[in-house]
Amino acid sequence: MPRLYRKTAALADEGIIPTRQRPYLEDEMALAARYVFPEGFLWGTATAAHQVEGDNTANQWWAWEHAGRVFQKQTSGPGCGWWRGRWKEDFARAADAGHNAIRFSVEWSRIQPEPDRWDEDALERYRTWARTARQMGLEPLVTLHHFTDPLWLSEQGGWETSEAVARFRTFVERVASALREYVRLWATFNEPNIYAYRGYVEGAFPPGRTEDLAAAFTVLTHMAQAHAAAYEAIHRVQPDAQVGIVLHYRGMRPARPWFPPDRWIARLHHRWLNDFYYHALARGRLIGPGLRSQAAPELRGTLDYVGLNYYTEDQVRFTLRRSEVFGAHGFPAGAALSAHGEIAHVPAGLYRALRWANAFRVPIYITENGVDDPDDRLRPRYLLEHVHQVWRALINNWPVRGYLHWSLVDNFEWEWGWTRHFGLWACDPQTQRRTARPSAHLFAALAQNNGFDAALVDRYAPAARPVLFPAAGLDALRAT
Ligand code: FCB
Repeated sequence: MPRLYRKTAALADEGIIPTRQRPYLEDEMALAARYVFPEGFLWGTATAAHQVEGDNTANQWWAWEHAGRVFQKQTSGPGCGWWRGRWKEDFARAADAGHNAIRFSVEWSRIQPEPDRWDEDALERYRTWARTARQMGLEPLVTLHHFTDPLWLSEQGGWETSEAVARFRTFVERVASALREYVRLWATFNEPNIYAYRGYVEGAFPPGRTEDLAAAFTVLTHMAQAHAAAYEAIHRVQPDAQVGIVLHYRGMRPARPWFPPDRWIARLHHRWLNDFYYHALARGRLIGPGLRSQAAPELRGTLDYVGLNYYTEDQVRFTLRRSEVFGAHGFPAGAALSAHGEIAHVPAGLYRALRWANAFRVPIYITENGVDDPDDRLRPRYLLEHVHQVWRALINNWPVRGYLHWSLVDNFEWEWGWTRHFGLWACDPQTQRRTARPSAHLFAALAQNNGFDAALVDRYAPAARPVLFPAAGLDALRAT
């Protein structure tokens, strides 16, 4: 007897449901049920230049690595060999797996290695990447700034100085003019909130400053202004472009909801980390560390879509420790964790993130979502349960247009170097060998079917079956 039917029978025996309901074949019903995504929905992966290209010797991250600031003094070295030619086989991997989109970034320090020198060959290469992606049936989403700055910019004070705004605008105009034939979807910045937090509050990213909230807010402000300048510059050379920004959203819930200090600090961290760009770009207001805001009407509405990066959700408890800015972050008890415990499996947090993103009133792309998991223990379930939350958002009519998984292949994970594994494909940086994880096949099926059914869940993540295809019939009967 099928398992679920056995359960039905048991309930009938207990008198919870009438006996005549016994032949209710829930397994069969579940197998017929399907989560369907809208036609044209984008399925793909995301990468960043510095993490996969290798040999990016002219940016501040290379200098940081070579100053021994990364875990175990690791360096990005030749990366995943993209600059040496392997980009093409990885693009082909994605295309063969049935993806229809790919997100990658261009490296500013290659295109403009010195303030008054432009490298046309580098630009031409990115043009080839974008053209090839299109030819392979992958819609390219191109990020213009993903954590790295040309060394010359850092030496001039980086994003703490307002000159960076005009510098970035000039760079972006150049890139957009060169790639406009092949790129429609642009992202100005990747996670400016994380760049500012890590670089100026926590210190794990260059320039490695700590607890400098004033500098962090200056950087956030300049990046918001640079975003608006880039938005305008791209539209000038390419009127039909879709220009967005990629924001890292991290839900912050009070660890003890009944304890007002937890509620207060969770809310404050939420306002700082998540809400800065909402206020700037949707409302035209710049907030400062004290949450007082000033009008910046020129920023308002400079957004054709919002890119959402979601990994996990935090529980925050009030602490007197200044180094944690009075909020200690943890995860919900019992949540499954990534290999190094940095990401908790909280798929409903993606739904909450999407609700937040929907307030921008523009289309939404999930531009990153993924988990560090070398053995693919959690990823299949993580993938399916997060995609399910996207579907929940879609049935509310929230305008989600695509889901890009982080990442295509394992890559150089910033302060953790090569010790984190986010790829659908494993990549050994020594041998450059790629190996498909089961999730690569699972994701291929998702992309090819534009949705999923219970058979796919059973095959790759049986643990997710009760979540994704619960015994709905039983629940309904129980409720009556
Ligand atoms: C995000 C970054 C991306 C990658 C993932 C794991 O914060 O945008 O480059 O490091 O985390």
